[in-house]
Amino acid sequence: MSRALYSGNTRPCQGRAGSSILLARSRMNTRAKLAGSLYRRVLKPWLFIIDAEKVHNVFTDLGEKLENSNLISWMFAGKQSNTNKSVLGIEFSNPVGLAAGFDYNGRLAKVARQIGFGFNTVGTVTAKPYGGNPAPRLIRLPKSRSILVNKGFKSEGATAVAKRLDVKNLTDHTVGISVGSTNIPEINSISKAIDDYLFTFDIFRNKPYVKYFELNISCPNAAMSESFGDEKNFKNLVSAVTGLNIHQPIFVKMSNEIEYSKADALVRSALSWGVRGFIFSNLIKDRNNSALDKGELEKIKFFKGNFSGQPTFVGSNNLIAHVRHEFGKDVAIVGCGGIFSPADAMAKFNAGADLVQLITGMIYQGPQLIGEICNGLDQRQRS
Ligand SMILES: Cc1cc2nc3c(=O)[nH]c(=O)nc-3n(C[C@H](O)[C@H](O)[C@H](O)COP(=O)(O)O)c2cc1C
Repeated sequence: MSRALYSGNTRPCQGRAGSSILLARSRMNTRAKLAGSLYRRVLKPWLFIIDAEKVHNVFTDLGEKLENSNLISWMFAGKQSNTNKSVLGIEFSNPVGLAAGFDYNGRLAKVARQIGFGFNTVGTVTAKPYGGNPAPRLIRLPKSRSILVNKGFKSEGATAVAKRLDVKNLTDHTVGISVGSTNIPEINSISKAIDDYLFTFDIFRNKPYVKYFELNISCPNAAMSESFGDEKNFKNLVSAVTGLNIHQPIFVKMSNEIEYSKADALVRSALSWGVRGFIFSNLIKDRNNSALDKGELEKIKFFKGNFSGQPTFVGSNNLIAHVRHEFGKDVAIVGCGGIFSPADAMAKFNAGADLVQLITGMIYQGPQLIGEICNGLDQRQRS
């Protein structure tokens, strides 16, 4: 199903000032291209030999240490494009976001914008701390352009994450919090899980830096999460959450492999409680997905987990198109899953997404991907 092309607000550069902006932008683009090429040709072959979670931890440490320097934005971002957009009353400096799961404890909340993201989700955050499911929690599958993920809401817990974010000076950033229920055996009923969600919403709802929330009901690696794909449980959760009178918009993070009729029922229910944002979507579970390489599947056959990246692409696009068609302008849609290029992002906008998010594409292609997507959108709008 194809729709009108991405329509952001454009402010074309004009005159002498415009030329110097274009020159500065072209310098930044050259640097970003160089950084991207160095990442893919030199760094990535080495990094991909090392355990994925270790690499992630090293980059998180490094990124957080550099958050007050200009180095990261000098390399990757700056103001390259005029792709600002307003969705559900929030101003996004560009429509490309960091999806939940990369910065689960908020350590990169400041750096994400320096890389070029227009918005970034912290989490999934849970009420209590949890050390994560048994390792290995991340396995790269390069032929499938995917990652096998089994983190299961590894989190320092809402109180610790809020304490960290409180001192990061994020007022002019567009940060969201993804909320889930703690993945521990004690949280073993719908009512306990709902209380757990509410605790985290309550911690963050008055924080000035939290511009939006994600309500995660679709993590296939956490025991209770998918129970909220059931319409009755979902209604109880959404009514309890909206009962907190949260002023920020909420985006429900949906499962990738959900049937259309079930997705429609959840969207309808959310709308009846005033929740208008949806993210399509989370990881896929189906090991028969045609994007998964058979040899790689064989190697990981004894490991638990679910898949990001390329295998999520088509399902996400189909859901975006379907829900946009069914619900028109009543809903705001974030397209998420398998974006590795500006064309992939454009496929989601064309299907009906207002914004897009990614993780796996950045790991495979390099952090300059975000700037490349924004420039692609910018050029598209100018032509
Ligand atoms: C390492 C990793 C951890 C993730 N953890 C979460 C999470 O905690 N909460 C969530 O809603 N989604 C999580 N996801 C799913 C992503 O947010 C996203 O929906 C999915 O990976 C598809 O996007 P991508 O192909 O751009 O990675 C995770 C994905 C990855 C790769």
